[in-house]
Amino acid sequence: MKKNHNPYYPDRKWLMPLAVFFLLFLIVTSVYPKSSSHGATRVVLDSNDNERLELGLPPLPRFAYLISGTKGDGGSMRRLLQAAYHPRNYYLLHLDLEASDSERLELAKYVKSESVLREFRNVMVVGKANLITDKGPTMIASTLQAIAILLNRAKDWDWFINLSASDYPLVSQDDLLHVFSFLPRDLNFVEHSSNLGWKEDLGAKTIIIDPGLYHAKKSGVFWAKERRSIPSSFKLFTGSSWVVLTKPFLEFCIWGWDNLPRTLLMYYTNFLSSSEGYFHTIICNHKDYQNTTVNQDLHYMKWDNPPNQHPINLTSEHFIDMVQSGLPFARSFAENSSVLNRIDEELLKRAKGQFTLGAWCVRNSNSNSISEKGPCVAYGSPHDVKPTSSSKRVEKLLMKLLDHENFRPRQCSLSHQPWGRVIPLYSKLMLNI
Ligand SMILES: *[C@@H]1O[C@H](CO)[C@@H](O)[C@H](O)[C@H]1NC(C)=O
Ligand SMILES: *[C@@H]1O[C@H](CO)[C@@H](O)[C@H](O)[C@H]1NC(C)=O
Ligand SMILES: *[C@@H]1O[C@H](CO)[C@@H](O)[C@H](O)[C@H]1NC(C)=O
Ligand SMILES: *[C@@H]1O[C@H](CO)[C@@H](O)[C@H](O)[C@H]1NC(C)=O
Repeated sequence: MKKNHNPYYPDRKWLMPLAVFFLLFLIVTSVYPKSSSHGATRVVLDSNDNERLELGLPPLPRFAYLISGTKGDGGSMRRLLQAAYHPRNYYLLHLDLEASDSERLELAKYVKSESVLREFRNVMVVGKANLITDKGPTMIASTLQAIAILLNRAKDWDWFINLSASDYPLVSQDDLLHVFSFLPRDLNFVEHSSNLGWKEDLGAKTIIIDPGLYHAKKSGVFWAKERRSIPSSFKLFTGSSWVVLTKPFLEFCIWGWDNLPRTLLMYYTNFLSSSEGYFHTIICNHKDYQNTTVNQDLHYMKWDNPPNQHPINLTSEHFIDMVQSGLPFARSFAENSSVLNRIDEELLKRAKGQFTLGAWCVRNSNSNSISEKGPCVAYGSPHDVKPTSSSKRVEKLLMKLLDHENFRPRQCSLSHQPWGRVIPLYSKLMLNI
């Protein structure tokens, strides 16, 4: 990787504290959103889990999804929303600043006009988008802002799931809600490792400046000449940027009653690929959360050998392997890829342009008429799910992840600190905190 030294950087040291304030500002302001998102959320579905309890079934959880995309992703995001939709869940759609206002508006219009979404009002579109620099910290700032919106607007969810426009589900939400209803509500799915590999040199010791914080056009990050030491007051972890995190853990990260998330946000402001380390490092360094980690990102991905920056685009050739993995999501898919049609037909039973159906949508078995309610003759109870045999695959995977050979032994360990020396947390160049 070529290091792109910015000759003007030394004169711009003042930008660093600014950047941190900007990040904190973004997060704080999104907690009090004024008119920044279209489509208000209404909690229409009162939790009425008594029936399930009587049947000896655990209460169903709710997921809060963030679906992000960039220029040209509007169509894929709409399709992903239809495929992963369930009235119980919440969805926040974010098209970044690279996308045009008209594309964002079109997505918002779709959400407003679709009768199912109008009925359940559980989808929001971020109106004021953020610029996201690939690899820069604006990625993590944008995710944190989205989480703050979800915490503020939709209060009763259990897990946050982060998806991009090139992701796709491999099971219906009825299946996923059913399987997750049996899980302890404090499990966080984060694929992590303390082996930083190349990142130790290129990430942890290098200071980067994300131009996305100051400029309106997307570009790469700047590399500062100065280097810093590996921190000693916390241990760095890295891993997949796809996460499934619990609400209590995210509240801990956002509300910041503890110093750790704030300190790490500042540290990661100048860290390469912050979204591959921020949550991982917090969760692994805090005693209350260390033991809640499952070392899996729940995404099926295939990498080139040697691995590229992005996983390879999946095709029909991967279909069987993908299904057998038992993973609930997969990536990356090219837009309108034919394997997506196969997933719709064989796994989700989703008709083109329609939602993945479940117990929430009552159908007339012998009629194909598309009514005002789409294919639903009436809306069924959202507190009811109709799991299919696909849920067994996910169940099998989770049981394996949670068995005694995999669960505890693969959690993060703070022992064997590889750097014994006590080094100051921030090199001189960094903020004086
Ligand atoms: C969330 O999703 C996006 C996909 O748009 C991904 O690139 C990002 O790194 C993810 N993770 C976090 C922690 O933000
Ligand atoms: C987490 O697990 C480890 C090892 O299993 C145990 O020693 C430790 O006490 C646990 N921490 C908490 C807070 O439960
Ligand atoms: C995947 O497909 C997209 C087109 O949708 C293309 O732009 C991208 O380069 C492909 N990625 C890989 C790794 O082949
Ligand atoms: C994908 O399909 C949609 C609708 O069928 C179409 O509008 C869009 O242009 C297609 N995109 C690509 C990249 O083929």
